[in-house]
Amino acid sequence: MGITYNEKEKVFKLDTAKTSYILGVTDEPGHVVHIYYGKKLRGGSSPTPMPGIDKKNKHWFFDGAWLEYPTAGVGDFREHCIEVKTEDGCNTFEPLYLSHKIYKGKPELEGLPATFAEENNCMTLELVMKDKLIGLEVTMIYSAFEDVDVITRSVRVRNTSGKVIRLTKVLSACLDLNNEDFEAVTLHGSWGRERHIQRRKVGHGRQGVSSERGVSGHQDHPFAALVTPGTNQTLGEVFAMNLVYSGNYEIRYELTQHDSIRMVAGISPYNFEWKLRHGEIFTAPEVVMVYSCEGLGGMTRNFHDLYRNHLIRGKYRNKKRPILINNWEATYFDFDTDKLLSIAKQASELGIEMLVVDDGWFGNRFDDNRALGDWVVNEDKIKGGLNYLVSEVNKLGMKFGMWFEPEMICPESDIYRAHPDWAIEIPGRDPVRCRNQYVADITRKEVRDYIYDSIAKVLRSANVEYVKWDMNRPLSDLYTAGLPADRQGEIYHRFVLAMYEMQGRLISEFPDILLENCSSGGGRYDPGMLYFSPQIWCSDNADAIERLYIHEGTALIYPLSTMGAHVTDCPNHSNGRTTPFDTRGKIALAGTFGYELDVTKISEEERDQIPGQVKMYHRYNDLVREGDYYRIASFRENNWYDCYMVVSKDKKEALVTYVQVLSVAAHGMPAVKLQGLDESITYHVDELDRDINGDVLMNVGLPVNGEFGDFKASLYHLVSQ
Ligand code: DGJ
Repeated sequence: MGITYNEKEKVFKLDTAKTSYILGVTDEPGHVVHIYYGKKLRGGSSPTPMPGIDKKNKHWFFDGAWLEYPTAGVGDFREHCIEVKTEDGCNTFEPLYLSHKIYKGKPELEGLPATFAEENNCMTLELVMKDKLIGLEVTMIYSAFEDVDVITRSVRVRNTSGKVIRLTKVLSACLDLNNEDFEAVTLHGSWGRERHIQRRKVGHGRQGVSSERGVSGHQDHPFAALVTPGTNQTLGEVFAMNLVYSGNYEIRYELTQHDSIRMVAGISPYNFEWKLRHGEIFTAPEVVMVYSCEGLGGMTRNFHDLYRNHLIRGKYRNKKRPILINNWEATYFDFDTDKLLSIAKQASELGIEMLVVDDGWFGNRFDDNRALGDWVVNEDKIKGGLNYLVSEVNKLGMKFGMWFEPEMICPESDIYRAHPDWAIEIPGRDPVRCRNQYVADITRKEVRDYIYDSIAKVLRSANVEYVKWDMNRPLSDLYTAGLPADRQGEIYHRFVLAMYEMQGRLISEFPDILLENCSSGGGRYDPGMLYFSPQIWCSDNADAIERLYIHEGTALIYPLSTMGAHVTDCPNHSNGRTTPFDTRGKIALAGTFGYELDVTKISEEERDQIPGQVKMYHRYNDLVREGDYYRIASFRENNWYDCYMVVSKDKKEALVTYVQVLSVAAHGMPAVKLQGLDESITYHVDELDRDINGDVLMNVGLPVNGEFGDFKASLYHLVSQ
């Protein structure tokens, strides 16, 4: 395991437990070429002769070469990673091998979130390439993990030219593969239906996912997996990329004329132009690459383990989160201290552990048209002040949390009236007034300092133990008074860096606060945000059936411990569907689990179920949070039922969730074949009061109790005998 360099062959081999990634340096002039990525190979040599690159050969052209970091302008007309402009107007960049170093551990990326590792579980290769003609260097950074089958990549670009160089595109990684009739698995959606899985054949031409919204977005997700035909949860080859970044991005793939596939990932070049002065470095975000020859399930579990152990930080990372009740769907903006305390009182009697006050507690915020940026407690609503409310909530034995939307300013706000230039807008042009709010120009230090300080002041004033950080509109009308005309192309990326800086400050000043990110639901659910918060609100749509789609897509990459999931009232506020309270609870159990309803107003029958659900959460959350996730069946595919399970790492315990979404007449109930168990263990299935062997459960199946009717969920708890 680790990283080796075969000096004779000039080949680098990166090994994880089950995968190998191989690259090499060609003979003079020394291009860095890709050789192999896939199932682990023995030895330290190249499995193929080093591909030659001979620009002087009349039969050779760049267009067929496999390059680790393809560039624009040299005659490689496929997807490429970098475009530059020099002062003399040239845009060709041909970096050649300069040096390398291999070391234990993993470097941090300046200003950016990234996975982390210890010296004993990761090795890193930094390979420097340089174009001596224009004086620009690229350092490719590869890390190979030992405890997960993951290779990460990122790049640093350094100007050594003595002049200004403009970077108009800097992606983070490229992967060339032989075509195997790949299909692409990607995630798409909209508000209220985030991260639905899509699968389609990869054809010729450029395809992929991207965002130009300034945030990663509800619509396309910064993830793509190329899979061989027939790949399912257990079989098939998967090559996946997930970008650790929360702004504009692209992941693109292209079936080329030579029947190879090129896949690239990084910051979107849309409206991107970075002025790099002599000596300056630009760092591009990290791409996480997973190869699995055990189908999508193998990929999923690698992502989950990586993110749980090497990305998420803070005291809640491996801890049960308090069961919260959020007042958003309960009251929207219509609340005051008395109302909140009545909810908290009732909730505390039922076993709920934290009250979260959502949007509307500050400034003149009685609807969503005003006051963002005025982070001062509205004492007409919060009568007696924040400290009084929090201490009353604490007296009930509950924690207290609150909502902010730090990156925004409403035109109707004191802050905007005082500083109209603190919003991102173009002088003289009417900006888009999406949700009646503008994006605050946090690229300017004075703006982000002011916003951070006003938020921190509120947090310092009371015992606040949870923060929901929301972000409810994309970026548009880009202009900042903080940068000259020739640097306006830096705004998108500087915005993301500024937001990361603010979140970093927040969690270092308040390390005990549980931070939950949110963006109109799950519009910025990406690994970049998980570096700062161990959980993200999945979607504003908490309908149990819609959540099956959302949770399936989200859990394809992200651990269940990160998925913000609440039991809400019915008919559901987003789609009008009514599902049993019991089903809503069992489906929310697959995430962080909480409530978002007026617990004083729901029926007694529903209220009476809450203590049982609280008990269920406490009983199973350790397993759900820390176990291995297996997708057994998908309602999306079979139009009948959904089934997933979580197995403890020692395989002695498992929890199966079976949801009969639509009742099907004249069908016997399925016996669902489980996965991930120990076939030599006999499991007691509590709900069936039966002992069943692991091999039977995996090869014959678990006999699920189909109930008559739609939207019925059941749990099966398996314990080793
Ligand atoms: C969008 C979030 O997703 C909701 O949960 C809620 O916090 C609203 N914003 C408040 O404006």
